[in-house]
Amino acid sequence: MADTLLVRDVPKDIYSWIQDERERSLLTQNEFVLHILREAFDSSNQLPLFAPSRRVEVVPGALPFTFIDLFAGIGGMRLGLERVGGKCLYSCEWDRYAQKTYKSWFDEMPHGDIRKIDLATIPDHDVLAAGFPCQPFSIAGVSKKKSLGREHGFKDLTQGTLFFHLATIIELKRPPILLLENVKNLKAHDGGKTWQVIKSTLQDLHYEIFDRVLDAAGWVPQHRERVFIVGFDKHVFGDNVGFEFPVVPSASAPKLKAILEDKPDPKYTLTSHLWGYLQQYAQRHREKGNGFGFGFGDPEGITRTLSARYFKDGSEILIRQPRKNPRRLTPRECARLMGFPDSLEIVVSDTQAYRQFGNAVVPAVAEAVGGEIVRVLARHLVRDGSLLSRSNGNHYEAAAE
Ligand SMILES: C[S@@+](CC[C@H](N)C(=O)[O-])C[C@H]1O[C@@H](n2cnc3c(N)ncnc32)[C@H](O)[C@@H]1O
Repeated sequence: MADTLLVRDVPKDIYSWIQDERERSLLTQNEFVLHILREAFDSSNQLPLFAPSRRVEVVPGALPFTFIDLFAGIGGMRLGLERVGGKCLYSCEWDRYAQKTYKSWFDEMPHGDIRKIDLATIPDHDVLAAGFPCQPFSIAGVSKKKSLGREHGFKDLTQGTLFFHLATIIELKRPPILLLENVKNLKAHDGGKTWQVIKSTLQDLHYEIFDRVLDAAGWVPQHRERVFIVGFDKHVFGDNVGFEFPVVPSASAPKLKAILEDKPDPKYTLTSHLWGYLQQYAQRHREKGNGFGFGFGDPEGITRTLSARYFKDGSEILIRQPRKNPRRLTPRECARLMGFPDSLEIVVSDTQAYRQFGNAVVPAVAEAVGGEIVRVLARHLVRDGSLLSRSNGNHYEAAAE
């Protein structure tokens, strides 16, 4: 027998809203109030998608799912995935300054070095998100065929690298979905061998792999190309997932001028010494035919890519100032250039902040890719209103109602 709950002193406006709504939906007052309580309870307890018998209404772009955030940085990927219904269960980042920002923004201290974490402590999750660093693998003389004959296939080749640790987590936890991010150069790195090993390793682990270079310029006023890799476990989704990358919006992104501060602190203006040096350096390189060393941001356009080395001299994105030396972007402007909202306080030094924003994933791009993942989830996991459940180990079946 369920417990009874009486509610007194209901404010008038809420009371009449309940009466109107319950009449409209042809429910009794009790049924209607219970329904509201159930909704509130469910949304504060977003369970993993694969929890048994969970009933959900599929709201496009907001299907509840769980994820883990590896190589989390300051959580660009996390912000994006949270916007499409994701609930983060675990994070890992070893840089103590990035950890400080992450703790301040998400009230969660990420676990440290991925090579040292106890894998058994990683909770089950629906999406494994990771912006892992790119390292070369030695694959001289190894063909795909040969590799497949080995016990673990391509994964053997990645021994000792960060990708090896990622692949080990994937093998152990078997997340239904992978969302990986890397620099555009990943695919050309080491003559294409690095990408070949990564893709083959994920395929050997029975994931269908999709990859696309996306330019964040569709969302923020910055040219920033990154490769996004999305994988779907074939045991769960079959061989024909039908995932599509988001279409990059063409006209909606703001211009640089929209993110500039009105009164930037004068400390961001280049000293005459540094400005003289940058000009001389550029001159020497122009003479050798190497192009410019520094670059001005066009307020009516977009900037070059913000890199993690921006803190050194800011030379890749300078802002012209009337009757003054140019200035670099302020840390807040860098946050905006990446699409991080002003409500997130910068809690580290300027140097660390420049580094962190230069390393981050643009949340809006993660959100757009996450939205497409949710579409696939909705198509594949919801049958007659109920989700598939994890029945045992790595197998999934329709939840018994
Ligand atoms: C490209 S950044 C990730 C950006 C981030 N995913 C985001 O959404 O904004 C890569 C991160 O991996 C972290 N990292 C590198 N080696 C690591 C390790 N062994 N353990 C944990 N984190 C590591 C770096 O400190 C860096 O912050």
